Amino acid sequence: EVYNPNGKYRVVSTKSMPGTRWINLLIEQDCRVEICTQKKTILSVEDIIALIGDKCDGVIGQLTEDWGETLFAALSRAGGKAFSNMAVGYNNVDVNAANKYGVAVGNTPGVLTETTAELAASLSLAAARRIVEADQFMRAGLYDGWLPHLFVGNLLKGQTVGVIGAGRIGSAYARMMVEGFKMNLIYYDLYQSTRLEKFVTAYGEFLKANGEQPVTWKRAASMDEVLQEADVISLHPIMDKTTYHLINKNSLATMKKEAILVNCSRGPVVDEVALVEHLKQNPMFRVGLDVFEDEPYMKPGLADMKNAVVVPHIASASKWTREGMATLAALNVLGKIKGYPVWGNPNR
Ligand code: DGY
Repeated sequence: EVYNPNGKYRVVSTKSMPGTRWINLLIEQDCRVEICTQKKTILSVEDIIALIGDKCDGVIGQLTEDWGETLFAALSRAGGKAFSNMAVGYNNVDVNAANKYGVAVGNTPGVLTETTAELAASLSLAAARRIVEADQFMRAGLYDGWLPHLFVGNLLKGQTVGVIGAGRIGSAYARMMVEGFKMNLIYYDLYQSTRLEKFVTAYGEFLKANGEQPVTWKRAASMDEVLQEADVISLHPIMDKTTYHLINKNSLATMKKEAILVNCSRGPVVDEVALVEHLKQNPMFRVGLDVFEDEPYMKPGLADMKNAVVVPHIASASKWTREGMATLAALNVLGKIKGYPVWGNPNR
């Protein structure tokens, strides 16, 4: 698919992206826009080299692609100066290789914060109230009348939400859970989140003034403290060598038997084999997963676990956010081509 065939700069998008604003922005700035129409979901390095061709000024790519030495070398040979991931995470991008070949890298932070936090909140609730299990029960025609024990789950109010990684998304999630469900907060982050702490303190005072039990917050000295104390734990760290299998057999054993674990960050943060075993051994433990270790696959056994809610990496999938991500990705590439600032820029 080609727009503005006579444009001066050739910009390639490895996937069709929501909305038209990103295409119009590029066209207005004299770009020829080429969108890959290959049917397969995940493009190989070879597929992308073919897309880059002999002349390419910039590429908008996806988190499913391996942007390493080979692709940045190919882009640089084609005269390319800019690459943007249509994602906030850039663990699929070798920023050092991009630097080596003089390619600026962009990502799309900000526009997906609330949408992603909302999915983490949805998974927390779905796990707590066993919504997917109950939905399947209904559709299977098994409901034959109200019963006192039917799908009894957890009340979040007054319980403790644990956040590991209190950056933009982790903090937005924490606020939703504290304000929406009156949960106490414990968080672990290398940096102190004073804005989050101020928010919980002020909200606690508001509740107290209205005769309600105030909420509390605590900054944990270690991740284990969160794992031991929290009833719902949501993972929001970045994915790198230090966070690989951050949640493993030992850390799972540290959590409460009836805890809920939510992961909307990256799959390899959790040792999924250990998780499946833990879910088998602890039927009251529940998990809500948006991401998986070997996407698009799930580790054997996970699909059979009733105490797991699983969705296909859709945390940022609201129309507004996806159009915003596409627009930011286009602006990132344009920024480099036209010489104005790149929005998300990990290799600045
Ligand atoms: C990201 O942006 O990193 C998400 O995983 C997809 O939105």
